[in-house]
Amino acid sequence: MILGIESTAHTLGMGIVHRGKVLSNIGDTYKPRNEGIVPRKAADHHAEKFARILDANLRKAGIQMRDVDAIAYSEGPGLGACLKVGLVGAKYLALKYGKRMVGVNHPFAHIKIAEGIAGIRKPLILYVSGGNTQLLVEHKGKFRILGETLDMGAGNLFDSFGRGIGMEYAHGAELAKLAEGGKYVPLPYVVKGMNLSFSGLLTQAAKEARKHGKRDAAYSLFETSFAMLCEVTERALFLTRKKGVIVCGGVAQNRRLQGMLRSMCREDGVEFGVAPDEYNRDNGAMIAYAGELIMKKGMKAPEKCTVDQGYRIDQLRLH
Ligand code: FE2
Repeated sequence: MILGIESTAHTLGMGIVHRGKVLSNIGDTYKPRNEGIVPRKAADHHAEKFARILDANLRKAGIQMRDVDAIAYSEGPGLGACLKVGLVGAKYLALKYGKRMVGVNHPFAHIKIAEGIAGIRKPLILYVSGGNTQLLVEHKGKFRILGETLDMGAGNLFDSFGRGIGMEYAHGAELAKLAEGGKYVPLPYVVKGMNLSFSGLLTQAAKEARKHGKRDAAYSLFETSFAMLCEVTERALFLTRKKGVIVCGGVAQNRRLQGMLRSMCREDGVEFGVAPDEYNRDNGAMIAYAGELIMKKGMKAPEKCTVDQGYRIDQLRLH
């Protein structure tokens, strides 16, 4: 029985997993108003909600702390202040109840739960969230990055654009609603080799919002960035000859992106998989799920556990 604790950014999530089965997955997200995520404010939110979220998960799973075998926590990458709240909470529980801990790389957790739910073995992985945008393959327990963003994550692109046009709660899902029914205006399409760059697109989309209106600019921002993602994914598909593609991470919830990838995979004769939204947004169940997969190799005494803000998946190290 694994308790997972996620706290890399705006969400404090917890989940309980037993032999790959999710028994609970309850969290709470800090929603900044008229600003980006201020790490200190998000960390305060996590500390404030910690006990209540833990309680809700134990109740949902129908267990008590003494039934938990180990505690998995997000080791990174993420915002230092937020990561530390998760770590300290996990350590407190581990020391109080005599549990061991396992640190989990956040992208690894997104990927593993998506793979598990989609049931696609050894897929090509498109991981796309606020802070990350990467195209990956796993080979013998190591991840190789075939392409990635050279500046911001796709989610960050949408949030920054949303703030720029004056949205109070600038979030991709809100922006997607605004974009509905928009008309396409050409925007910079920047694919460099297998990598992507979004900063020029952000600047130009903000200009177009003033010229053509917010709706058309938002619509075009999604269409252009998603087309860029599809191009590199398709090229990696031909290079690797993988039989399936999964998309995971916060931006993977976007139905337009799912639809574009699904039709691309259909045309190319490969499988396509995506997990339900609750496992693509930041959540605790994925940390518990991934923790269970690596607990034999990664288990540590609480005193030895740390966080790493810049923990890239290609450095994945299972102590
Ligand atoms: Fe995430």
